[in-house]
Amino acid sequence: MNQSPEQLMETEYLADNHEKIDSYFGTFFDFMRSSLASGGSELGLGMTLFSLVVSTKSTRILEIGRFKGFSTLCLANALKFLSIGWQEPQQHKQRPEINYSEFDKPIKGKLYSIDPCPTVESQNLITLAKLEEYVEFINARSDEVTFQEEFDFIFIDGDHSYAGCKADVLNYIPWYLRSGGYFVLHDYYGWYTPDRQNNSPVKMVIDEIIEEGLCEQILIDTGYMSFVVFRKW
Ligand SMILES: C[S@@+](CC[C@H](N)C(=O)[O-])C[C@H]1O[C@@H](n2cnc3c(N)ncnc32)[C@H](O)[C@@H]1O
Repeated sequence: MNQSPEQLMETEYLADNHEKIDSYFGTFFDFMRSSLASGGSELGLGMTLFSLVVSTKSTRILEIGRFKGFSTLCLANALKFLSIGWQEPQQHKQRPEINYSEFDKPIKGKLYSIDPCPTVESQNLITLAKLEEYVEFINARSDEVTFQEEFDFIFIDGDHSYAGCKADVLNYIPWYLRSGGYFVLHDYYGWYTPDRQNNSPVKMVIDEIIEEGLCEQILIDTGYMSFVVFRKW
């Protein structure tokens, strides 16, 4: 595959997103806004990926489908935040199963980002945001890659055909996601029929996962393509 369908989409210049945001929100949000692109994900997805990774302290992350690097940026930013860390009051440390002296250590995580059609935009974005140390680019199809480790978090946004998306779920979630880990499937909405019905192949895969009843899940409806967050038992 030389060019993905997303790369063939017309690029729309979103002028407001290139205006610097109030410094209160800072560089990270500037990067997020300015990297929104046709064929990529919406802002709400990036906000959730960032906060979900930070709040669950997920440091081993896999992304399938990078395109121009929007989700890559948000996931890698979360890893950067986790590598700095923060302190919680002693009173918050009540869970007997958690070893807080380990849990609270800042950890430098890694994001493996798989895509067979690398873009200069994604490379430039990660370089410009100085996030290279958190990201390993794997320029291959998801079915060409194997790993020796389990992940805490898997984001699936690659091949959007029913067969491709289903294969990513079957090939990765049982084998490479730890139990208790999170995975996200993007593009719950889309591929509308002439009579305005949601015909997203990703939704079909999502509905099947829900029917199996092996995960907890929630649909995050951003008003755009939207996504479902799953937690593996
Ligand atoms: C919708 S875009 C990803 C958008 C990106 N996650 C974002 O947040 O902007 C889909 C990407 O998946 C890639 N892709 C297609 N088939 C794939 C496969 N089998 N394995 C990995 N990536 C694939 C395409 O090259 C394309 O860049």
